[in-house]
Formats: sequence, C-alpha cells, structure tokens
Amino acid sequence: MKLKLTRSALIVIIFAELVGLFGILFLRHYFDLNLKTYQNFINVNFVERTDISTIKQLIYEHEAVMKNYIWEKSPEARVDIRESLALVELKLRHQLNDHIEVMEKSDFGTYKMGLFTSVKDDLITYLNYNAVICAANLDEEGNRQNIEKYVKENVNPLIKHVNNSIKLLESVSQNETDTINRKMSRNFSRCQTISLLSVILMGIACIICFWHSFKVFSSLEKDKNSALEDASHKEERISEIQHRTIIGIAEIIESRSGETGQHVKRTSKFVNMIATKCKEMGVHPEMITEEYIDLITRAAPLHDVGKITISDTILNKPGKLTPEEFEDMKKHALVGGRLIHQFLKGIEDEKYLQIAQDIATYHHEKFNGKGYPYGLSGTDIPLSARIMAVADVFDALVSQRCYKQAMNYNDAFALIDSEAGEHFDPVLVHVFMQIKEDIIENAKQM
Ligand SMILES: [Fe+2]
Ligand SMILES: [Fe+2]
Repeated sequence: MKLKLTRSALIVIIFAELVGLFGILFLRHYFDLNLKTYQNFINVNFVERTDISTIKQLIYEHEAVMKNYIWEKSPEARVDIRESLALVELKLRHQLNDHIEVMEKSDFGTYKMGLFTSVKDDLITYLNYNAVICAANLDEEGNRQNIEKYVKENVNPLIKHVNNSIKLLESVSQNETDTINRKMSRNFSRCQTISLLSVILMGIACIICFWHSFKVFSSLEKDKNSALEDASHKEERISEIQHRTIIGIAEIIESRSGETGQHVKRTSKFVNMIATKCKEMGVHPEMITEEYIDLITRAAPLHDVGKITISDTILNKPGKLTPEEFEDMKKHALVGGRLIHQFLKGIEDEKYLQIAQDIATYHHEKFNGKGYPYGLSGTDIPLSARIMAVADVFDALVSQRCYKQAMNYNDAFALIDSEAGEHFDPVLVHVFMQIKEDIIENAKQM
C-alpha cells in the first residue's frame, strides 16, 4: 500500500513538474516568437506608413505649388514657383525610389504588393506627365482657359487617382495593424493562461510533494517506534528465556542430589521475601532497591551451580560425609562463582553477574567467620550471600534429604534464630523472624 502510494505520488509529481516545466519553456519560446513577429511588423509597418505618408504629403505640396504657379501672373514670381515645383518634383522622385526599395525588401502578399505597384505606377505616370512643363507651355501661349481646362481634365484626375491608391494602401496598412494587434492580444492571453496553468500545476506538485513527504515521515516515525517496541519486547523475551534457562540448569543440578528442583524455586522465593521485608523495614536502604530485589531473586537459583563438579557418590551419600568428602563438597562454592563468571560474563549485565557470583561463592560463609571457602565474617560477607545463607539453610532444614528427615517449621525457625550472630547476620535473622508466617505458608504451597 505504502509502495503504491509512493509510486503514484511520484508519477503525479513528475508529470505535474514536467508539464509545468514544458509549459514554461513553451511559453518562453511562444512569447519570444510573438515578440519578434510583432517587432518585425512594427518596423516594416512604420517604414511603409512613413513612405506612404511622405508621398501623400509631397503630392499635396506639388499640387498646391502647381496651382499657385498656374494662377500667378507675375513673371518673376512664376520663375521662383517653377523652381519650387522642380524641387518638390525632385523630392517625389526620391520618394519613388524609396517606395520601390521598400517593395523590394518586403515580403508582401499579392494584394498588398498589387497596391504598392499601383501607387508606384501612378507616381511614375504623374511624374512622367510633367504637368508643370505642360502648364508653362500653355501659359506662354497666353490662353488661360486652356490652362484651366488642362488642369481640370488632366492634372486633377491624375492627382485624384494617385490619392485614391494611397488611401487604399493606408487602409490596408491600418487593417493589418488592427489584425496584428488583435492577434498579439490573443497570444498574450494564451501566454497568461499557459503561465497560470503551469504555476497551478507546479503548485499542485509541490503540495503533493509536501503532503507525501509528511506521510512518509509519519510512516517512518511509526515504523521506528514499532521497531523500538519490538526490540524492547524481544529484549524482555530474551531476558525471560535466559532466566528460565538458568533456573532449568540449576534444577537439573539440584536433581542430581535427589532434589525435585523445588529447592531452587523455594530458596529464590525466600530470598525475595527477605529482601522485600528488608526494604520495607529500612534495612540497608543504600543497597536494597527494587532493582536489587529483582536481581537477587533471579540470581538465587544459581547458588549451588558449582555442585555440577561434585560426584554423585558424595551428593547422594546417605550418611555423614568423611572429612575428605566434605572438603570436596566445599569446593562447589568457589567452582560455582567461577562457572558463573565464565559462562555469564558478557551475556548478563554486570550487576546481575556480581550478585550471582557473590551468592554462589559466599553462601556458605558464616557471620562468625567459621564458614567457607574464605572464612569471611560479619559484613565482609556480601549482603546477597548473607540473605541467601538464611534462605538456603532454612529450606535445607525443612526438607527431607537422603541423609536426614525434614525438620518442622517452628524448630527450623528456632534454630535459625539461635544462630543469629553465629551462622547468620543477626539483622537478617530479625527480618526473617518478622515474616515467619508468610514463609511457612509459601513453603507449604511450593
Ligand atoms: Fe551450597
Ligand atoms: Fe542450596
């Protein structure tokens, strides 16, 4: 689902970005093209209009000067006017040449070219007609009526014809200008529409991109939290498996000496109860915390793990052990400490390892210093081992073994109490006596 969403979103984003990009590129090209066309048209149209306008102006000027000349009676003035006429005529010829040049340079359509040609032909006719010379000749003949007739019949129609051609050409140019203006207006509207669409598309792509990124990051965050939760559960599960494995091994070792494995469970429970009561009574508050209670409870099953190296003959001997056999049996404390260090270092955490080693190594030390393997006394014996000693001996007393019968609970408590300050830490014996009823109840249930 996530993969599909990613692909779909990616396709939409890429498509929208490509269309937007294409739109912008097309827009730029289209805009440049239109601008060039428009600039070109404006330049050409300006030249055409200037050309036509100049011709028109010169024709009117020529007509006006010629009429002056015709009606002027003073011979001196007429000479001046003739010179002016010649000058205007010269300008007209120059303008004709410019007109022809514009025609040659431009790429007009057939109709417009026809109009340009018509204006050119009319101008040539007008100039070739040489109306001034004709009028002058008629004037010298002194017949003014002939002059009037000549102007009316020849010059005026010719000028009218030239003006009509020019007006038509002007009209075409104006139409062309209007057309190109409308076209440019449409094109600019298209440009605006394309630009708006491109911006909208790219905006949509950005929104999708942000939305999708948000979804992906949220999903990653969820995955991360889920992975952390899984890892935490796995860690707890592994820890549980380790603990059960340790208890299982301890039970197997106990079963070699004819025990059912319940000794491991009972002593672990008693250790937990003693430690919990210590915390409640404020005994060794600097050491006994919730974590400590958990660690000592989990480490207690390993207290006799060193018995794995003791022979079955010694473990299951029905009678009292000989001094040599007892020396062998005593070795289980040191061996147990070493085995725990050897097999659990790096697997269990350091605090657990230390408590488990202390319990295994020192659980047979006595408070009066007469225990083994080192003969430590008092508080030199680690607290965990002192607690273990009370629980271990009590359970051994109330359990039946191959070499003895089970002691009743009251006698066992009395014996433990009598050993306060001798075998056991008196403070811990005091705590133990406070939970006598609970201990008996639990011992009966297990
Ligand atoms: Fe032991
Ligand atoms: Fe034991």
